[in-house]
Amino acid sequence: MTEQSLAFSPLTVGPIELSNRFIKSGANENMYREGYPTKALLKHHRDLAAGGIALTTLAYAAVAKVGRTLPDQLWLRPDVVPHLKAITNAVHAEGGKISLQLTHGGSFVTSIFVPHRTISASGGLNVAGLFHGNFFQRAMNEKDMALVTSQFVDGARLAREAGFDAVELHMGHGYLLNQFISPLSNRRSDEYGGSAENRVRFPARVLRAVKEAVGSDMAVVAKINVADGVRRGATADDAVVTAQALEAAGADMLVLSGGRNVESTWFMFGSPMNQEEFAKVFRHQPLQRLLMKAAAAGTPKGLQFKEMYFEEYSKKVRAGVKLPLAYLGGIKSIDNVNKAMDEGFDAVAMARVLLHDPALVNKFRDDSVRQSGCTSCNACIPQIYNRAGTYCVLNPPNDPALNEIRAGER
Ligand SMILES: Cc1cc2nc3c(=O)[nH]c(=O)nc-3n(C[C@H](O)[C@H](O)[C@H](O)COP(=O)(O)O)c2cc1C
Repeated sequence: MTEQSLAFSPLTVGPIELSNRFIKSGANENMYREGYPTKALLKHHRDLAAGGIALTTLAYAAVAKVGRTLPDQLWLRPDVVPHLKAITNAVHAEGGKISLQLTHGGSFVTSIFVPHRTISASGGLNVAGLFHGNFFQRAMNEKDMALVTSQFVDGARLAREAGFDAVELHMGHGYLLNQFISPLSNRRSDEYGGSAENRVRFPARVLRAVKEAVGSDMAVVAKINVADGVRRGATADDAVVTAQALEAAGADMLVLSGGRNVESTWFMFGSPMNQEEFAKVFRHQPLQRLLMKAAAAGTPKGLQFKEMYFEEYSKKVRAGVKLPLAYLGGIKSIDNVNKAMDEGFDAVAMARVLLHDPALVNKFRDDSVRQSGCTSCNACIPQIYNRAGTYCVLNPPNDPALNEIRAGER
């Protein structure tokens, strides 16, 4: 090892220890069929663990069937545990650890139909659900909150049974818990709406319940937005309040992200969406093409990718809390990683560079690579709709056959 950076030293996150400071950020793999994880998903995460990542995040497990946003998406029930176990075993065999990202879409249902009105922080027209017949959403009441809390707890228990080392509660990007945190979707006038303190109350309650249920065995992580990136959205000052509330509720680490799936994807990725690639993937789905165009309408003119694009926002959060924080957003080089360490972040989370090269961490470690070959073209993003699974278009395509076999099958 030539690289002596702090990034290659262990990190304690709640009850677990990571062998280094590199995390694979949750990135929808689309390696599921009818809600079951596939062999392609197993290979994906095994390759990441073999490539030196200390903690890989299996993206996007819905805690309830109505909490899915995509028809094939993994949703948690006892039936999937043996298949998930095959994946956690494969990662552990490579010396890595693995986290399960837990989500509930709430009213963010762009690709499935949910009977009855979808739930959210507030009621009204459901813009994100229009194309699939989910015209209206309703504000959650106390009974809904108790149900969703228990669904997250049950999901975390299933994750523990399946051998995961951590769960990551998704509180960013516009999913249900973020629908409370963001003023773009929370118009409540009770104790769950209004101030940033009030808006994080329900997500913090969910986190506390999950922590009480599984926190002595697993790390409980939350992914939050450092800002929504649009007018009237949550700001970095709001994010500090959110982070403090989650720290008080017992979070073991926060992964810092930003942006919303509908209002500000360009902010999430620090660069415009790749419309040409979306047009290719959706060549037979004109409505989806339209939706993607509409979502891109707010992209600032001339926006260009910049390394570490959430740096200034994330530093504000760093100054406001003590718990471990993972910096995320445009990490492209070992110099970026070291900068994040110097700025007091405890870990770095990365997605696109690892889709390009799952062995990047080992290459940083032996100094054979200092700068990722990822071009930030964002062509990987539409691949979440590719039947063979998400991949980097600069690499050979995935083997489609692997994505048709359940992970635990022989
Ligand atoms: C193909 C793709 C799929 C993604 N899916 C998810 C997801 O399911 N959950 C999530 O929290 N973030 C998702 N993201 C966002 C990433 O986790 C991350 O926040 C973003 O890519 C910025 O990090 P980067 O600059 O290292 O790529 C996805 C990103 C990509 C590229």
